[in-house]
Amino acid sequence: MAKLFYAGISGLGSAVPDKIMTNADWAKLVDTSDEWIRTRTGIEERRICAEDTAASDLAFLAAQRALQSAQAAPEEIDLIVVATSTPDYPIFPPVAALLQDRLGCGKAGGFDLSAACSGFGYGFYTAAQFIESGELQKVLLVCVDTLSKNVDRTDRSVCVLFGDGAGALVLERTEVGYGHLASIVGLRGSGAPDLIVKLGGSKTPLTKENIGNQDQYISMNGKGVFKFAVNIMGEATEQAIRKAGLTNKDIDFFVPHQANIRIIDAAMRHLDLAPEKVIVNIQKYGNTSSASIPLALDEAYRDGRLKKGSLIATCGFGAGLSWTANVLRWGK
Ligand code: UT7
Repeated sequence: MAKLFYAGISGLGSAVPDKIMTNADWAKLVDTSDEWIRTRTGIEERRICAEDTAASDLAFLAAQRALQSAQAAPEEIDLIVVATSTPDYPIFPPVAALLQDRLGCGKAGGFDLSAACSGFGYGFYTAAQFIESGELQKVLLVCVDTLSKNVDRTDRSVCVLFGDGAGALVLERTEVGYGHLASIVGLRGSGAPDLIVKLGGSKTPLTKENIGNQDQYISMNGKGVFKFAVNIMGEATEQAIRKAGLTNKDIDFFVPHQANIRIIDAAMRHLDLAPEKVIVNIQKYGNTSSASIPLALDEAYRDGRLKKGSLIATCGFGAGLSWTANVLRWGK
């Protein structure tokens, strides 16, 4: 469908906790090794929240940086969209409301969006619609997750994978042909049990009896998710590129969800991309869920890799099982 307007990224920001946890640190706690984690996942270290740091604390820092980068005042923001699976409070209020108050976004409405590690892609696609329709002027998208708080610290197959972080973007109208070009989304709900936190929702609410039970933590069929992801990442990205009327060769940068370097490498081969076109920072942050794509995008922007006109493809996947891919032309 033809767009009325184009939605561009006018500002970007990110935030991670100060505390670094290396593979060697994990090896002191569970039966693992730096060698295993590095070769099977590509992760070398990750950032871990302090106990009293909540999602909204990281989100606030990333959002402040994005507003600054967009040279936008908080009062100009029309809508706050927060993509997260780890809100400060499990039921309500949404993180968007906490941010609205703390940032001073006086006129903004807002809501949280739950799409697990696909949160950036679903959030970007959603936020762009409000700008492309001409309905709103400035939308703040914040992707934040603190999954280190939801891992069983004795389960080596999961605990070493996740880190915490936040990435934020300001979206507003941009030149024709720039900003968001195309998106695709998908779900394979039959895979829901493959990546799940069973306790604490309406299906099995927390009770005095079940608190402390294993089911409060992330349970993952690693091999199942791996098999799904290794195929979907390349295919979904290609679909989005085609939807934008482009070919794989047109892509200047690919920003994949940072879950496993072997999954990223498979997508890179599928798309026939040179390694320098793929933005990877999994070694420093591990899997930061919804934050991983904007964290990598922000890094590439700050180190000068992204140039005005750069064509960027992103792809995320995760619990659901869900996926999403976006294509955009950098306009800053
Ligand atoms: O955002 C989406 C989130 N999730 C994902 O993207 C996860 C996708 N899956 C993966 O990334 C990989 O499947 C993992 C990294 C989770 C696991 O790698 P794998 O190559 O699939 O290993 P595996 O599960 O087949 O396990 C191989 C061996 C097992 O030992 P045995 O049975 O062969 O003796 C595991 O017990 O590796 C063992 N293992 C470990 N060893 C040392 C599993 N985790 C660890 C560990 N350290 N941390």
